[in-house]
Amino acid sequence: MKIASLRLCVFASLSFVVFSLNLLGAPDSSPRERLLMDFGWKFHLGNEWGIAQNLAKAGTGSGPASTSFSDASWRTVNLPHDWVIELPFDQGADGSHGFKPVGPGFATNNVAWYRRTFELPKADAGKRLWLEFDGVFRDAEVFVNGWFVGHHESGYNSFRYDITDVANYGGKNVVAVKVDASQFEGWFYEGAGIYRHVWLVKTAPLAIAPNGIFVYSQFKNNVPKGSAEIHIQTQLLNLQASTTDAAVKCEIVSPDGQIISTVHKTIKLSAWINGETEQTTRISNPELWSPESPKLYKLVTTVESGGKMVDRKETVFGIRTVAFDANKGFLLNGKPYELKGTCNHQDHAGVGAALPDRLQYFRIEKLKEFGDNAIRTSHNPPTPELLEACDHLGMLVMDENRLLGGDAANLARLKGLILRDRNHPSVAIWSLANEEFTVQDTPAGKRAAETMQTLIQRLDPTRPITYAAPVGDDFNGINSIIEVRGWNYHVGQDMHNYHREHPNQPNVGSEQGSTVSTRGIYTNDATRGYVSSYDVNAQPWSSTAESWWSYFADRPWLSGGFVWTGFDYRGEPTPYGWPCINSHFGILDTCGFPKDLFYYYQSWWTDKPVLHLLPHWNWPGKEGQNIDVWCFSNCREVELFLNGKSLGRKTMERNSHLKWAVKYEPGTLSAKGYNDGKPVVEIKVETTGEPAAVRLEPDRTIINANGEDISVITVSMRDARNRIVPTATNLVHFGLNGPGKILGVGNGDPSCHEPDVYLPTLTTHSVAKNDGWRWQKVTNVYDSNLPEIKTNFDDSSWETADMQAVSGPLQEREQAVYRAKIQVTEQELAAESVELCFGMIDEDGWVYVNGQKVGESHGWSSAPAFDVKHLLHPGENIITVAVANWNGAGGINKGVTLRLQDKPILHEWKRSVFNGLAQIIVQPTKAPGEIKLTASAEGLTPATATIQSQPGTPQPCVP
Ligand code: GAL
Repeated sequence: MKIASLRLCVFASLSFVVFSLNLLGAPDSSPRERLLMDFGWKFHLGNEWGIAQNLAKAGTGSGPASTSFSDASWRTVNLPHDWVIELPFDQGADGSHGFKPVGPGFATNNVAWYRRTFELPKADAGKRLWLEFDGVFRDAEVFVNGWFVGHHESGYNSFRYDITDVANYGGKNVVAVKVDASQFEGWFYEGAGIYRHVWLVKTAPLAIAPNGIFVYSQFKNNVPKGSAEIHIQTQLLNLQASTTDAAVKCEIVSPDGQIISTVHKTIKLSAWINGETEQTTRISNPELWSPESPKLYKLVTTVESGGKMVDRKETVFGIRTVAFDANKGFLLNGKPYELKGTCNHQDHAGVGAALPDRLQYFRIEKLKEFGDNAIRTSHNPPTPELLEACDHLGMLVMDENRLLGGDAANLARLKGLILRDRNHPSVAIWSLANEEFTVQDTPAGKRAAETMQTLIQRLDPTRPITYAAPVGDDFNGINSIIEVRGWNYHVGQDMHNYHREHPNQPNVGSEQGSTVSTRGIYTNDATRGYVSSYDVNAQPWSSTAESWWSYFADRPWLSGGFVWTGFDYRGEPTPYGWPCINSHFGILDTCGFPKDLFYYYQSWWTDKPVLHLLPHWNWPGKEGQNIDVWCFSNCREVELFLNGKSLGRKTMERNSHLKWAVKYEPGTLSAKGYNDGKPVVEIKVETTGEPAAVRLEPDRTIINANGEDISVITVSMRDARNRIVPTATNLVHFGLNGPGKILGVGNGDPSCHEPDVYLPTLTTHSVAKNDGWRWQKVTNVYDSNLPEIKTNFDDSSWETADMQAVSGPLQEREQAVYRAKIQVTEQELAAESVELCFGMIDEDGWVYVNGQKVGESHGWSSAPAFDVKHLLHPGENIITVAVANWNGAGGINKGVTLRLQDKPILHEWKRSVFNGLAQIIVQPTKAPGEIKLTASAEGLTPATATIQSQPGTPQPCVP
């Protein structure tokens, strides 16, 4: 297998294997740096500056793309950031996207700018610099120092730009990103913004190419017995003018940190060319990766040239085999392994699509609690950090591409996805696309899928490929060529017939369930938009949990399947629309609180004894009425009691549930589960009292003071006996002290319209500074020593300027200097930011404050603003502007103002609990210390949670 477009110039192929038991060797001393670029971005929703890219002249991006633009009054944000979560709900907006005012019809909320200023040391000159985006939703135009460096459309793929040529070494650099979310890519909440990480990567000119390492293992017959053959492909980039030799050393480090194999190879690389080398080695009796035992190996690649290390990179990988068999189903490490999976979108309460890395881990941990061993990244490439969480925690992944299509752009995106993700042991199968209704059974759809499948097969010889097909017994189009038939719904006879007719094609339940339930709700309620949590609500196209799983569980050839969905997500409110704003498909709600179905799946997807009763037992007013009591359990028999009185013992059918009709009386409903006649587990559900206290329970009380970590805190309403009140709806107020901040709040209520975030309100006001301006023609504004711009120049004889005129007074090809002494008060200088704003500088302008240059303006139609707070002092300040006019009338017009940002207005964080529970996410700053979170609700005992934010290994960041 070879990546076709690359040339390899091997002049000496000295390949040998050294086995040793040394501890991992020397520390990283290669020039490679990968710096997180998440902190200190400036953000502005809106684009008041028109088109930023100048197609006529290079390096002249205008508006926020220009280096001299002032973003001083913009909000400071850290990444990942989703601006849609900040918008209010709007009944007139698209429901499938969660009734948020974005997308078609909401032009003012669709485009936003991000800017980040950073210094680069002089010593970086000569290195290669890359700006890497894990994902931006969507349509991003990226500028560096006024240069346009790239345009990336899809919101779900990672992309990078080489910014070596345009970087400013030994000085200030500005990255500006225009994000345009006017168009949707999906039919679910997608968020908007730079909602994944950004990285600055620095390498030597000879370096490992981006995504340039592929390491995979193979065993005879794809069954892991004996030793694994390890294949390592390394792609190098020689971005320099000389032919050079490169020595590639690959060390394999075992899960317990020993170097167990080293291979070397030397290759010759011509100037400005890529080269690829392939090495193989063997590992005997490897420790296999699986969800139950996610053992990870590490490949350490070092590249030497001219006697120096020029690159070093660590790649985490796992050794395991995957396959799909037409009769046995999915095989992991050679053995049948039932996929107990869920589909999920990247969306969580409080943060929208902008998930901190720790939240990815939190979510995978929650899924594993009910026995989930696989996820499908529906319906788009995930962020790489999700795959890292899956590698480490043990979770198989169906990694899904967004769209079907054999066109060049789609193939480039697909290729990027495969190259990026193919080292992750968690990724077990690729999915070409989901439910392409219009084309899936056409010849064109089939050809597109074939083209895509062939590309994947060339790039990754180790993983099967599927397509999520929402059709029954239909072998037309994509299904006729796809390696593994994916089943979206159509449980039953269709599957049986298809398998009989196509006995050699493996199958997988790519999407099943779509059962709807609302946490803690036991009757359907169209007015409030809630659905009952008994396993009774499926959609016309879907099924209850029990009906799909019991069918699949009895048919190993189906390989198991992926429930739609693990977590509720914003958008697709089903079956009711407004006021409902999110889906009910989850086994967990948007916060990750379990619904009752969690216990159905836990019963049949794990081996531990599970016993769960529903509903809750707070039904005042229903005394004497029959209430359906259901039990999810994997015990052979279950006995139910009400206030200590047995209501009978029943035998559990496999993959099923039990139910009783119970006359309601308050008290204790309890159950005992028996296996082989012996009690193995007991539970009780009690009628609680009224809420008496708030309780806070952080998932972690010790976190890292790195500005990225989080603590996820459960807020619950407790009665006087500390029992969660399952019907409570109290409003809780939060306060935080210490080195941290609240990132977001949620409660899992699919019809709650309270905000997820409470941001400070930022306002500005303007003070006119049009008086006292004079102007005089000059002949060479390009001379930076022009006496007329010096502070002490005597301009008393100059003509008075009308700064509020609409145009003029300069004629074509005339130049001038404008001067003013403006008075600035102490109060004005106390503003959060102070910007000097011009209505228009027509056409080129060079602006100075008290003799110091603050910036330039090169677009007559822009209204340039300059950050001047640091240059002004109370009293008289001298402003000078040199202006060159080229066409028509020119000069400085339409007014001069100081724009002052007022003190931010802070808002209190609050959230109602939904059926007793809410969630609050707290993030530390980079300063260690104690974070204290308080929660209070009217008339109840308040709560405090203490979180220690401790210094850890600092993540290398762009300063
Ligand atoms: C499927 C689709 C999912 C979701 C689901 C709701 O057909 O693939 O994205 O819309 O229906 O039931």
